[in-house]
Formats: sequence, structure tokens, C-alpha cells
Amino acid sequence: MPAAGRGERLGLGPAKALRPLGGVPMLVLAVRALAEARGVDVVVVAAPPDDRAEVQALLSAYDIGTEVVIVSGGATRQESVRRALAALPPEVEIVLVHDAARPLAPSELADAVVQAVRDGYDAVVPALPVADTIKRVDEAGRVLETLPREQLRAVQTPQGFRRQLLADAHAAAPPADPTLTDDAGLVERIGVAVHVVPGHPEGLKVTRPIDVVFAEALLARRWARHAP
Ligand code: C5P
Repeated sequence: MPAAGRGERLGLGPAKALRPLGGVPMLVLAVRALAEARGVDVVVVAAPPDDRAEVQALLSAYDIGTEVVIVSGGATRQESVRRALAALPPEVEIVLVHDAARPLAPSELADAVVQAVRDGYDAVVPALPVADTIKRVDEAGRVLETLPREQLRAVQTPQGFRRQLLADAHAAAPPADPTLTDDAGLVERIGVAVHVVPGHPEGLKVTRPIDVVFAEALLARRWARHAP
């Protein structure tokens, strides 16, 4: 779980993963949901290097109930994932990479992704159709192209891989290519097919301040349903 981003688009404040949603740190929500998935035996968190001790204390306090390993994240998401991969126990064969910034992705989504890998797909991403029309624009703000919306998908995490494939894709990747914004992108680069499964609307990425409003509303609805 890459969790080392600063969250600058959310404004100034603590590292994004430590910011609360409905009173609970985003990282705790994200780790808890992933740990509840049937196929997950261990969660490796790439924490912000300056906050590693705090992350350790927080995850112990919330008693996740699944083994959690904490490593220091890197300067880019790709580097954070690479460091987390290096800390996986040797027996692990299937890996999910899940952004701490998607703390409401339900554990059923992780289950579905793991199942697709077990069914024989080497690389699996959850994705949703896009509602907006997407255009390519240049730096001057001029439209270059309108992309055919029916072919477009907004890709989420958790993304699932055969461990060796993901390790090979990371080993082959250039260190800092800004177009490589997800792990499936690294796998595509080495010519391996990526399979799409249905994403989930609650798998949204908390990036901008308005996403916090959406996420807190979703959590309030969820908690109201589970109230005694
Ligand atoms: O940068 P972006 O918003 O795409 O971040 C997606 C995920 O990658 C977040 O969970 C963030 O914490 C993580 N990340 C990381 N290390 C970085 C930058 C981002 O683990 N250096």
C-alpha cells in the first residue's frame, strides 16, 4: 500500500494518509478494508519516511488483526511500491497494490481482483466508465483531440498481479516517468496484457478537498447502516 504521498492537492497539513475521515485516519480505513479481504494475509505499508513511527503506533492502536509490515516510502509512488514489494514475505505469489488514498474501496473489490488473478489473468485492474467527456489539450489550453468516451475507463486500485510479473515490470521501468501513474502501466510497458474488472464507485481517490466531503458522506451512510 503506497501511503507516502504528501497530499499537496488537499492543502497544507499532515501527510495525506494520516488525515482523518469521519475521525479515523485514512490509512487506518484503507488498511482495515484491505485486511478484511479474504485473500489478504499480509499488508505492507510504504509510509511517509518522517511519519513511520506514528504510522506504526497508529496501526498498533487500531488492532488491524492481520500482519502489517511498515517500510519507508520513496520520493515517487513508483519508488514507494518498489520498496514495499521488496519487503514482501518470500511465499507470497499474488500481490495487490492499493492506494492509501482510496480508503473506502470495499474489501469485496480486493476479493474480486484476487479472484481474477487466480482465474489466470496475470494483471488485473478495476475500472469504471467515465461520465465526463475527455479531451487532450496542449499547454496553451487548446483542444488537440476528443477521445471516444465509450472506450475510456477510470482505473482504480487495488490492482492485482502475479508477484514475479510485477517485480519484473518494476525492475524494467525507468525511475521517474511521469506517465507511469499506476502499476498496470508498468506491466503494459513490458508488453503483458492487463485485464479489466468492474470497479466500485466507493473506490474513489481522495485527492481534492471536495473528495473529503464525498468520502465523509459515504462513511456516514455506511456507519448509519451498521448502527445498532
Ligand atoms: O500521487 P498520487 O496521488 O497518485 O498517489 C497515489 C498513492 O500513492 C497515495 O496513496 C500516496 O500516498 C502514494 N504515494 C506514495 N509515495 C509517494 C507519492 C505518493 O506512496 N512518493
